[in-house]
Amino acid sequence: MSDNINENTNNNSKTDHGVAGKQEFDQLIAGHDYDGIQEFDNPLPMWWLWTFLGAIIFSFIYYIHYELKIGPTSDQELAAEMQAIEKIKSMAESNAPKVDLNTMIKDEGKIAEGKLVFGAKCAACHGDKGQGLVGPNLTDKAWLHGSTIESIYKTIAKGVLEKGMPPWEGVLKDTELQNVALFVHSIKGTNVTGGKAAEGVESP
Ligand code: HEC
Repeated sequence: MSDNINENTNNNSKTDHGVAGKQEFDQLIAGHDYDGIQEFDNPLPMWWLWTFLGAIIFSFIYYIHYELKIGPTSDQELAAEMQAIEKIKSMAESNAPKVDLNTMIKDEGKIAEGKLVFGAKCAACHGDKGQGLVGPNLTDKAWLHGSTIESIYKTIAKGVLEKGMPPWEGVLKDTELQNVALFVHSIKGTNVTGGKAAEGVESP
C-alpha cells in the first residue's frame, strides 16, 4: 500500500460520488479504510436483512423443535406418514366401495338407474321385483350376507360363487354397481307378494 495509490483512490471516490466538500465526504464513509478501500455507511438491503433475520428465526424454531425434543422427531414423522400410507393402502384393498354409499341411500335418481341394472342382470335369478327365484328374496328382512348398504355392495361386488351368486365387480361399471346396491337396499323389507321364503338372519 503506498500513499500514492491511497490518495488516488480518495480522489477517485470524491469524483465518482460527486461529493463536493471534505466534510460531507467524511459523513458518507464510516471512517473505515482497508488498503485504500473505503466504506460507506449505507443501510443493509432489505432482502439481505430479511434473509438474515429469517435464518435466525428458523434456527431458533429448529433448535426448540429438534434439540429440546418438543415436536416429533424426523423418525416419528416418518413413522406417522408410513402409517397414513398403510391406512390408505388397506382402505383401497378392502371391499368397501370407493364412495360413501350411506349418503346416497335416498337418492331416487340412482335407485331408478339401479333398478334398470337389476332388471337386466339380476332379475333372472332374483325375480323382476327382487322377490327371489334361484337367488334369495331380496325384499324380506332375512339376509344371508348382511343388510347394510356396505354388506349388500360387497355381496354384489364379490359374489358368493360357491352358492351361485356371481361377482359383479369388473362386469358392471363402478356406478352401476353402486346404483344396483342402492336399489337392492331400497327394496329390502318391502315384502313384495309372491316372494320366496325367507333365508338367513333377520336384520333391519
Ligand atoms: C346366476 C344367478 C344370480 C344372478 C344373476 C344374481 N344373483 Fe344374487 N344371488 C344368487 C344366489 C344363489 C344368492 C344366494 C347366495 C348364498 O346362498 O350365499 C344370491 C345372493 C345375493 C345377495 C345376498 C342376499 C342375502 O340374503 O344376503 C344379494 C344382495 C344379491 N344376490 C344381489 C344380486 C344383484 C344386485 C344381482 C345383479 C347385479 C344379482 N344378485 C345377480 C344368484 C344370483
